[in-house]
Amino acid sequence: MPLPKAELHVHIEGTLEPELAFALARRNGVELPFADTEELRRAYDFEDLQSFLDLYYALMAVLRTEDDFAELTDAYLARAAAQGVRHAEIFFDPQAHTVRGVPIATVIEGLARALDDSERRHGVSTRLIMCFLRDQSAAFALETLQAARPHLHRITGIGLDSAEVGHPPAKFREVYEAAGALGLRKVAHAGEEGPASYITEALDVLGVERVDHGLRCLEDTDLVERLVRERIPLTLCPLSNVRLRAVDVLEDHPLPRMMDAGLLCTVNSDDPAYFGGYVGDTFHAVREALGLDEERLRELARNSFTASFLEDDEERRAR
Ligand code: ADE
Ligand code: ZN
Repeated sequence: MPLPKAELHVHIEGTLEPELAFALARRNGVELPFADTEELRRAYDFEDLQSFLDLYYALMAVLRTEDDFAELTDAYLARAAAQGVRHAEIFFDPQAHTVRGVPIATVIEGLARALDDSERRHGVSTRLIMCFLRDQSAAFALETLQAARPHLHRITGIGLDSAEVGHPPAKFREVYEAAGALGLRKVAHAGEEGPASYITEALDVLGVERVDHGLRCLEDTDLVERLVRERIPLTLCPLSNVRLRAVDVLEDHPLPRMMDAGLLCTVNSDDPAYFGGYVGDTFHAVREALGLDEERLRELARNSFTASFLEDDEERRAR
């Protein structure tokens, strides 16, 4: 029996496996610039975040209908459940679809159809987190929040993702304020490739409750102390950090040091179809590469529920 755990950092578009990408391409008459799944997999050799994002956005061309989004989500939930995931807080990137002419209603209702069936089919409770693309304008983010208004009962919180460097959190102050006024929870990617100051800014200017990645907090000891004191969870993604070259090899990942420092660390998959594993695979990989013992793995699993947006009674049931 895999360790029961929650996953708090997974982009649903990053769960698009090559086989499903080709199946959807065929169904929707979309031509992919790869001959087959093997050629596509060979392209998963990334230099940095941007080189990954270029492929990630290109492959999304195959996602067109509500059925596509439902099928993608159901496939993720089945895989996650098999690896012990009991609760998943799932990111999606509406702007990456609306710019291609896919209505936001198609995206959200497709995702929601799979999520509504998730407890029954997979025993996985879920939350949906709508991310804004930080390399797009603040005005586009605000417009997207407005467009999502009819669907807000489906959405628990907002996040911030895409190319980090040069797009500091403060750019999105207004949309985070507006989302807060609507009762949405707040998270943001910060300190993945960007500096530690982006983490501080995400806390102080955007009011985030949880930091996605947060790896580079280690460059600022005052910030580390603050994150520990305020019990701000970090959603770390070690396999992603290796594939996107934030760390050289998994054996060098600072996760054990971060746990020793008292940080509230969780371990997640980020974009599992691209980075070589789902969250159970990630637990296995960090155990092997970093020599984490059973107690440390249980601590990571416990943290994943503590850091989740589940209510206390739901959390007890999921654990
Ligand atoms: N979108 C999908 N994966 C991402 C990542 N690791 N960082 C920023 N944006 C992303
Ligand atoms: Zn991410």
